[in-house]
Amino acid sequence: MSSRLPGFYRLGIAERRRRLLEVKAVAEGRFASIDPGALPLDIADGMIENVIGEYALPFAVAVNFVIDGEDALVPMAIEEPSVVAAASNAARMARAAGGFTTTASTPVMIGQIQVTHVANVEAGAAALRDAAASLIDDARRLVPRLAERGGGPVGLDVRVLARAGADGGVLVVHLHVDCRDAMGANLVNTLCEALAERVASTAQGRAGLRILTNLTDGRTVTVRCTISDDALDGADVREAIAAASRFAELDPYRAATHNKGIMNGVDAVLVATGQDWRAVEAGAHAYAARSGRYSPLAVWRAVEGGLCGELTLPMAVGTVGGALHNHPAARLALELAGIDHADRLGALAGAAGLATNLAALRALATEGIQRGHMSLHARAVARSAGATGELVEQVAAELAACGDVKPDRAREVLARLQSPLPSVADKENQ
Ligand code: MEV
Repeated sequence: MSSRLPGFYRLGIAERRRRLLEVKAVAEGRFASIDPGALPLDIADGMIENVIGEYALPFAVAVNFVIDGEDALVPMAIEEPSVVAAASNAARMARAAGGFTTTASTPVMIGQIQVTHVANVEAGAAALRDAAASLIDDARRLVPRLAERGGGPVGLDVRVLARAGADGGVLVVHLHVDCRDAMGANLVNTLCEALAERVASTAQGRAGLRILTNLTDGRTVTVRCTISDDALDGADVREAIAAASRFAELDPYRAATHNKGIMNGVDAVLVATGQDWRAVEAGAHAYAARSGRYSPLAVWRAVEGGLCGELTLPMAVGTVGGALHNHPAARLALELAGIDHADRLGALAGAAGLATNLAALRALATEGIQRGHMSLHARAVARSAGATGELVEQVAAELAACGDVKPDRAREVLARLQSPLPSVADKENQ
């Protein structure tokens, strides 16, 4: 299957679906999962509390991606115009040099067990370290099926947080759990709750919180790509993007916006695939600040003839459990992208993040982002004024050209384009 689908954005929705069927991205009938009303209300009612309806988002696929040598359609659900187009454009640039390559760490999540009121934290920590192997064995016995699949608790360490204070001596135990293809929040929390009393009594303190950390620095994805000067439209653009990256490295205010541009791509994939995107967001920003200074998650370096980009971020995602149990659109998203394990999902989300970062930096370092945003905004305004089919492009082009992208102006332009041309007889009578 090729993800290179030139002109995909110009097609109507039905034609886009037909095109995906042609490239065999999914079986016929599967698009029902993203038709309006596809999520049955009673399922929605079972997912959260106090349900009164559903909240829809546009669902799209970004094209042109090659990830680890394989073409991939990248599903995205997002309200912000230009993110899907930006990802597809950047993926086209990366494709020329082989696309994105990724490496994933083992999928190890960390559960925290807090112990307070420890009279002697050094002695408590030493006792816990001595008991580590046996605590891990206890934990492994609680998840035999995960252990059979090669996962389960794999390590335990202890950190001293305070020697005295409002909570007395405070320790925290980190339980490391290989969650395989699950995101693992429930699993890790259950294990922490089960071990907490034994941990507290071993340290001679009181059990406090028992919960995973979202700073999943044991579960990361790294994505790299190379972009040639030709794809960038010249060495000047390469230098400008490298300078934009250095700006983010020097300034946390810029780094926050730089990282927002990365999360545009990452979150859109996570939302489409039913992931806990708040967990990944929390992890990403904590990871960005891990040195004590908030920094960019991706950096770009000028190299001979082009540019190299590299992104690393925590990636706690799963392809089993969670919303995937009952959300038809999330299951379709995985199918469209050909994802059958969590590493591949993390690779896709990371590649989308590096792509949207590149597209944003390229626009910012050259013409600015407003021109591109305006032409996309103009299309949205044209549609909301009632334009359909080819009229959308015509109305949008006129709005963008005159710089007046307002609904009134769109209605005016649309009315003029829709009014029948005066006939020869009309002209003669004038
Ligand atoms: C807007 O959603 C994202 C950008 O601000 C990212 C950036 O500045 O790098 C364009």
